[in-house]
Amino acid sequence: MTKKTNTQFPKHFLWGASTASHQVEGDNHNQWTVWELENAKSKAAQAEYHYSDYPSWDFIKNAANDPDNYVSGDLADHYHRYEEDFDFLTKMNMNAYRFSIEWSRVEPREGAWNIEAITHYKQYLAALRKRDIEPIVTLFHFTLPTWFTDMGGFEKRANVKYFVRYAEKIVHELGSDMRYIITINEPEVYAFESYYLQNWPPNQNSIWKYLRVIHNMAIGHKRAAKIIHSMNRKFKLSISKNSTYAYPGDNAWLSRLSANVVQYFQDDFIIKRFIKSCDFLGVNYYFTNRVYGYRIHNPDLKLSDLHWDMQPADIEFVIERLNRTYRLPIMITENGLADAKDQYREWWIKETVVGIQKSIASGAEVLGYLHWSLLDNFEWAYGKWPRFGLVAIDYKTGRRILRPSAVWYGKVIKKLRKL
Ligand code: BGC
Repeated sequence: MTKKTNTQFPKHFLWGASTASHQVEGDNHNQWTVWELENAKSKAAQAEYHYSDYPSWDFIKNAANDPDNYVSGDLADHYHRYEEDFDFLTKMNMNAYRFSIEWSRVEPREGAWNIEAITHYKQYLAALRKRDIEPIVTLFHFTLPTWFTDMGGFEKRANVKYFVRYAEKIVHELGSDMRYIITINEPEVYAFESYYLQNWPPNQNSIWKYLRVIHNMAIGHKRAAKIIHSMNRKFKLSISKNSTYAYPGDNAWLSRLSANVVQYFQDDFIIKRFIKSCDFLGVNYYFTNRVYGYRIHNPDLKLSDLHWDMQPADIEFVIERLNRTYRLPIMITENGLADAKDQYREWWIKETVVGIQKSIASGAEVLGYLHWSLLDNFEWAYGKWPRFGLVAIDYKTGRRILRPSAVWYGKVIKKLRKL
């Protein structure tokens, strides 16, 4: 159990939660929705094979065996119900919220801007500002218009210009209410899952394509950043990097060497391609990896519903290392767990908040902590059964309920913000 520290959080620290368009909005039309419909049946048929050893299997099996679980469909209908969802931020005493713009809504056909969708996101931002909530706007969070993926997506260097044009359009239209911008969410996760592991559309398995996609996204980030910075220096940009903490499980030279190699390839190999055009570093922290010899073997002390090993306190070391290495302020843009029964969430948040506090005490500059997620959402290839929300969603009725851990967390934020 993590020990408390008395360090104060900075006055303007951002306390918030995150979502992404495709995971909560409902009724999207992009490369994911096409893929979901093509794959739902086979995913349901393979569920038992993949997940039956999960601690959560007994209560997830009905959902996991159902093809409907793998189709995003209407979800929480956040696209229309965002005002009531934002009220939960206020209830939890939060002052920040990260979300993504759905490119496929804004530019449904190449070069054709959808004014209604742009107006929607203007109203969305205004609804946050009205509540004194700082928006952190992501431009690309894994979903792309089908016209863009039909052209080859980020595999083709020539397509980068479309992303840059979209980024410029968004900032031109919505910039008055924006300050923090995440150009790309987890470029390395997107490229790895889609172009190497074959888990996500377009199900490719090529290390060269993986590297090319990262390279092209880095060019897109750099070009978008140059344009956005020239529009106004008030804009603060970053990517969101999924960062794991790797440590040697024993003192053997091989374990120490491997931990460094793992850390390098998971973090620095990617970050160095983007960092020059970043004003801060967005970090998504979910995992720690304990390395023995040349293998990763975690202690499995506590497992989330997704069978992920939970070591939330290690966020302290992730922040300290990245802040020291890149000398930029860190913003935790995602961090959380799948926990349908809400049995670990309070513990997880407590460990995390103390971990962040300790990193600040040791000199790190941290802008904020955005929990993943505000709402239960569509967890990509796993579908709807993993429950990451501070707010629980009943997908049948659309009913929203603040989970007990979130009620507790709201009180903690109130105290820490001295409200
Ligand atoms: C992604 C989210 C996802 C979360 C939990 C992050 O890697 O950005 O979209 O839901 O992890 O898996």
